[in-house]
Amino acid sequence: MESTQLLRPDDLALLVDGLMQGPLGEMEPLARHIFGLRLEQFLPDVLRPLTILYGSHPQFPTILHRLLGQVAQGYAHRSEPLRLLDIRRMQEPDWFQKPEMIGYVCYTDRFAGTLSEVAAKIPYLQELGVTYLHLMPLLRPRPGQNDGGYAVQDYRAIDERLGSMADLADLAGQLRQHGISLCIDLVCNHTAKEHEWAQKARAGNPTYQAYYLMFPDRTLPDAYEKTTPEVFPDFAPGNFTYYPEIDRWVWTTFNEFQWDLNYANPAVLGEMLDIILFLANQGVEILRLDAVAFMWKRLGTDSQNQPEAHAILQLFRALTRIAAPGLLLLAEAIVSPDKLIPYLGRGEATNKECELAYHNVLMVLLWSALAERKVGLLTYALQQLPVIPTQTTWLTYIRCHDDIGWAVTDENAAAVGLNGFAHRAFLSQFYTGRFPGTFAKGATFQYNPKTQDRRVSGSLASLAGLEQALANQDEYEIDLAVRRILLLHNLILIYGGIPLLYMGDELGLLNDHTYLEDPDLVNDNRWLHRPLMDWAKAEARQNITTITGRIFMGIQQLLQARQQLPALHAQALTVPVWTHNEQVFGLIRDSPRGRVLILANFSERPQPISRDHIASMGLKGGLRDHLTGFTITRQPHLHLDPYQVVWLAVSNEP
Ligand code: GLC
Repeated sequence: MESTQLLRPDDLALLVDGLMQGPLGEMEPLARHIFGLRLEQFLPDVLRPLTILYGSHPQFPTILHRLLGQVAQGYAHRSEPLRLLDIRRMQEPDWFQKPEMIGYVCYTDRFAGTLSEVAAKIPYLQELGVTYLHLMPLLRPRPGQNDGGYAVQDYRAIDERLGSMADLADLAGQLRQHGISLCIDLVCNHTAKEHEWAQKARAGNPTYQAYYLMFPDRTLPDAYEKTTPEVFPDFAPGNFTYYPEIDRWVWTTFNEFQWDLNYANPAVLGEMLDIILFLANQGVEILRLDAVAFMWKRLGTDSQNQPEAHAILQLFRALTRIAAPGLLLLAEAIVSPDKLIPYLGRGEATNKECELAYHNVLMVLLWSALAERKVGLLTYALQQLPVIPTQTTWLTYIRCHDDIGWAVTDENAAAVGLNGFAHRAFLSQFYTGRFPGTFAKGATFQYNPKTQDRRVSGSLASLAGLEQALANQDEYEIDLAVRRILLLHNLILIYGGIPLLYMGDELGLLNDHTYLEDPDLVNDNRWLHRPLMDWAKAEARQNITTITGRIFMGIQQLLQARQQLPALHAQALTVPVWTHNEQVFGLIRDSPRGRVLILANFSERPQPISRDHIASMGLKGGLRDHLTGFTITRQPHLHLDPYQVVWLAVSNEP
């Protein structure tokens, strides 16, 4: 049914009137007008996904009224500084696409201690030019095991070890004063089984049982299991858990203690919207929406990336645009390339879904090229990606708190002469140190005997060879490992989007085995790469004669170079090109702001690239490398050192 048919014009006028008298009644006329304008602008974007989700619901108009009422409340409670921020963001809609943007990701406790202690680390973040800070899960988790904070017991409270909600709001304000936008996680696919809603459901309350996906017997769970993959086959096999106290099977995609929410129930969507607005009003500028691919289930499918999951995100987006347009939504969907792009919006939803998404495909391909010393798959697979909407961008990264899953499709592998299955197995072996001659030291995460899939844990430095090289006291290998670390960082800085530095990688921190001593963490080896910040080591960061200094200063230099190069704006086209050298990756960034050709040597041997080939990539004449400042005029070949990257532009010099 068309959404317009679901709502009579009179209803709408009444609704707006009700909002103006009700939640917005106390506001200044100008503030109310602004709300009215935004409502008018975004209402079609609300109705479209709302119809996909609840178009056939008998209470459709009531659902809409309730949601808009919540939005009006959220707007009325938004502080003046935040309403000004909204206006600023709307005046500069590409603020998050600029090359000045640099992200940093850390755990509050592991980085600084408490939320109020994070403020003391702002100067450190400024040394790196950070403008975006993602503090890993900090809303109150269940006690004991909590999947690194992704099992939330209370979305309106902070983990007491870290501080209070007032501390969060205070920190958000302090960060903003220093030009840093705060990002936090919103786990919207599931709650902890200790969450108030789940507790009521466990006590037998049918209203709250309808918040989750519960089944009286195995009939439907068995039917779903036929096509639904397992996320944690090792420590949480299957997708359902039986609870004898309620005699129900509950959908638990992740761990037993994480209960999937039922978004087919509009009350759940309303609750989550309230939480989103509440967090936005604390000054959070970016919400990382966790595990969004799983938010809608459908029999006979893998219950991931369903159209309704996209509709939920589009609805969140349109509704928050009315109340808090400064807020950005970040999709955490670690899925295959073809499934990934739609999270940034496509078709009618172009520029109307999430503004940001993680580029897990780039991350995987970079590791793949590094192991293979060949760039064919990297180049080809990136070339297949469609362009993304103009008002969105990627978060580019090399490591995060999760494992690496080898998201290489069989089709892409076959196109460059590889067998997908064998290549993924090779990558697992290589990065877990089981492939002859490998430099990497990682660990297998969640071996799945059914699919033979092996994901990988390990810190960036350990996966890039530093741990092994240090153990062997091999200066040559140490040098190569440092170069690899810089190469990987370099590529996430130029690709297009906000590059994320993962805490400790800027110092080359190695795998951390201390999690083995904690009974709540011991089963999950992702803690191998979630170290404590090593502030003692950080002391050496400006000493170029140390390994730490080489890594930190190397990254710092790259970050500064990025911030000064307008051609790297996220709106510039990103075009991977063949360089006629299997070891050298080529990428053009092109826009009216300028054209840059990035060439990256993925091998430990020097590599030549002919000037003719560079000219055929569209850069004719004298060239200048932005990183070293060197100009290249008459030489017939350009020579790249082991793992060297250059950022070439046509030089104005004769
Ligand atoms: C996301 C998180 C991951 C967590 C999962 C379940 O993928 O990044 O750490 O285990 O969601 O919440």
